[in-house]
Amino acid sequence: MSPVVGHTVHTFETVDSTQAVLGHLAADGGLEGTVVVARHQTAGRGSRGRQWWDAPGESLMFSVLLRPPVPIAWAPQLSLVSGVAVVDALNACCNVDARIRWPNDVLIDGKKVCGVLPEAVSREDGRVNYVLLGIGINVDQRAFPPELDTATSLFRATSVQHDHGPLLSATLAALDRRYGEWLSNGFTELRLEWRKRASMLGQRVHIRDGGEGVAIDVDDSGALLVDAGRGVLTRVVSAVTDPGQGSA
Ligand code: BTN
Repeated sequence: MSPVVGHTVHTFETVDSTQAVLGHLAADGGLEGTVVVARHQTAGRGSRGRQWWDAPGESLMFSVLLRPPVPIAWAPQLSLVSGVAVVDALNACCNVDARIRWPNDVLIDGKKVCGVLPEAVSREDGRVNYVLLGIGINVDQRAFPPELDTATSLFRATSVQHDHGPLLSATLAALDRRYGEWLSNGFTELRLEWRKRASMLGQRVHIRDGGEGVAIDVDDSGALLVDAGRGVLTRVVSAVTDPGQGSA
């Protein structure tokens, strides 16, 4: 099958957010697989309503338009699918041992090198209209502001400067492959791939409701299963927000 992801790539010097630019293209009927890339964002969106900071030219930032013919309730699985794809691309391109922190933060040596923001718009029948998969990879940063001391970059991890072009191509190819597998076979097999790349199974984690426990697995829907002790198993579902309503 010919690649879907990345058949058209729109490249910008500066935008507010590649999510916003691609959202307009999507609302105008843009084709699945369209990509928007920018060297700098003035209002980059992070998860949970946070801002995604960048210094011009130092990060690889792009958004991918997907139109999977599935119920909107399945959209969180795409968070995990994209985490697997990014890890594959980084490990192959940059000779690192990147791992995934649920649902889709990509870490090297425990520090965040990439964040993925899935935003989805549903149709009236409860199925997906489109998903904007926003990916930000820290590539060239020599240092981060003190408030980002849990971040790293490919340069900091490898002492090598990595070209953005091949990295983008490799990530889009990996996304295309994993997205195709998910459309054809569902999440069950990809769940095993996610587990192989996970950084945090068996570790203590804090969950959004203020509780904590040991992360033991992800289930077939992509939810994190946390053993909260005394026989209580908590299921945590990852958030996919509507871009028009802001992140929760
Ligand atoms: C996170 O907080 O971990 C998710 C960060 C996602 C950042 C990327 S950069 C490209 C795309 N455009 C945005 O405005 N955000 C995403």
